[in-house]
Parts: sequence; structure tokens; C-alpha cells
Amino acid sequence: MTILPLHENSIEQAVTLLHAGSVVALPTETVYGLAGDATNGDAVASIFAVKGRPQFNPLIAHVSDMAMASTIVDIDPLSQELMTAFWPGPLTLVLPLKPAHPIHPLTTAGLSTLAIRQPQGVFAEIVRRLGRPLAAPSANRSGRLSPTSAEAVFESLGASVPLIVDGGAAIVGVESTIIKVVDDKVFLLRPGGLAAETIEEYIGFSLTRMDQRAAIEAPGMLKSHYAPDAPVRLNVGELISGEALLGFGPHRITHADQAVAFLNLSETGDLKEAAAHLFHYLKQLDLPSVTRIAVEPIPFKGLGEAINDRLQRAAAPRG
Ligand code: TXA
Ligand code: MG
Repeated sequence: MTILPLHENSIEQAVTLLHAGSVVALPTETVYGLAGDATNGDAVASIFAVKGRPQFNPLIAHVSDMAMASTIVDIDPLSQELMTAFWPGPLTLVLPLKPAHPIHPLTTAGLSTLAIRQPQGVFAEIVRRLGRPLAAPSANRSGRLSPTSAEAVFESLGASVPLIVDGGAAIVGVESTIIKVVDDKVFLLRPGGLAAETIEEYIGFSLTRMDQRAAIEAPGMLKSHYAPDAPVRLNVGELISGEALLGFGPHRITHADQAVAFLNLSETGDLKEAAAHLFHYLKQLDLPSVTRIAVEPIPFKGLGEAINDRLQRAAAPRG
């Protein structure tokens, strides 16, 4: 296992390994991805094996540009507009596969649709050099915190990945927003690094989404995911002894000074900054001496929707 800084050498090594059917951990603007050739069944099988991910959960295929996407999926006019507006970036679209597409069925878990996105930076450059789409889930053990740094990838996956390319801290910090256009509706399948409002402003109508309040009222419906070792308690108004505190904004809750450990996602209440810190701070507060991680309320607007989604899953009962 090697961790190499982002450089011409590491890019070439990554391309060589991927070409040979190996997996490689690569930075994206959202989180680090565990990448493998999406057209190669052995490579995709390795992704599932290394992560311990159930094979019924399909992967996102990453392309170098819209031209590559259009060789793989059928793109309706609205999806095309959204790609033009927001690619490269944290937006994934679910689209029907073309009849003669090159994607291995393990990537899609046998579905006739594909989740597809063009990431920013070196990842798209590596796809371009490889000339094939890369399947990549977040580079962590299934169900655990997503990695926003090369060190976090190493701590989660260790020696099972031959190469980790270190591109520094992921700038967005939460996974891509996933949408699906069906007729004249746009479904929000996963809130993420592109705020739903930003998409809504662009298309001029509301996304069709799950009722977030219903999700909070029935936490048993939420699958545990993005979980640190310590249990997580949300929207806290005061601290219980033994808890670490994950704060948000300038105002502190009662007894905040008694926290075992304390980090603030954003002193100024900036949701973009909070998203970028989220997984890293949860990991830092996940100490043996901490009985639980208490989290202050975070507004649901903008990137707050994705932050609350990840926190609710982190707090969901463990299976
Ligand atoms: O930002 C991201 O999206 C990161 C980076 C590495 O690109 N990737 C990521 O992948 O978050 P992953 O595997 O953790 O999440 C992929 C999500 C899963 O929830 C999966 O169920 C959904 O995409 N998905 C994949 N294919 C789908 C499809 N055909 N229809 C509906 N959902 C799909
Ligand atoms: Mg993931």
C-alpha cells in the first residue's frame, strides 16, 4: 500500500493500476472514492469486497465529460441542461443505459439505469486518460464515515488498497446530490454537495423529495450509515455527562463547557464550511473516552439538508 501526493507520477500509476483491473483510492471534490474500471467485472467485484458493501447497492459511474456520458446513457433534454449547468461537480443523475453500453452489470446491481457524474479535478483527468468510466463509492468500510482525506481512507481501508492518491482535504465534504428526471418531475434521491435550492432555482420548480420531517419522526426507518463508533444524539439543547459536542454557529448550548471534547462545524454558521468539516470532525470526536457525540441543531436549508441527512443516518439505530 502506498500513499502518493497528487503528481504526474501518481496519476500515471493510478491509470496503470486501473487499466490492470485494480482498485485505487482517488480524491474527488466531495469525498475520496474507491475507484475501479466500471466495465471490468473483476475490478467492480474488488470494490464491493474491499468495502464490505452488499452487491445489491449500485455504484456511481464517473465520466471525464458529457461526451463520454452520452456513449453510455440516454440523456433527456432536462438532464442534459442540468449536466451543462453543474458538471463537473457534485451532481449525479440516474439515467437509462443505452442498449449497447459497456458498463458491467455488477456496477448497476443489474438495474437498467446508471447513476453517473463528472467529478472535478484529477479524478476526471484519470478517467480521460483511462478512456473508460470509473465506478467509485466512497473509500470507506461500508456503513462507516466517508473519508475526506487520504489518511481517513488509510484508516478505514488500510492495506487492501494498493494506492491512495493524496489530493488534500475534499473541498465539498459530503457526497454528490443524486437526482432522477422522470417526465416533468425531478426526484431528489439523495441530498448532497449541490444544494437542492440551487437546482430548484435553475429549473424554476421544486424537486420532489422525501418528507424530511417524516424521516426524523420515524428514525427507525432510517438505515444506519455514516456511523462513528460512538452513538450520535441530534438537535441537542443541553449536554449529558460523558458526551462530546459537535457544535454549529456562534451560540452554545447549556453545559457546553462540560463536553469531553468539542468541535464547531462553523463558528459563523456557514453551511458550506460545516459540510466540509462534517465527516472529519465526527471522526475526531469519536474517541474511546466519549460515550456519545451530541450535535447541535443545524438548519435544513442549503447544504444543511445533506448535513442533516448524514447525521440522521449516523444517529439511526445500529443493525
Ligand atoms: O460524491 C459521491 O457521490 C461519491 C464520490 C466518490 O463520487 N460517491 C458516492 O457513492 O457517494 P456511494 O456508492 O457511496 O453512493 C452511491 C449512491 C447509493 O446510495 C446508491 O444506492 C445510489 O447511488 N445509486 C447508484 N445507482 C443507482 C441507480 N441506478 N438508481 C438509483 N440510485 C442509485
Ligand atoms: Mg458511501
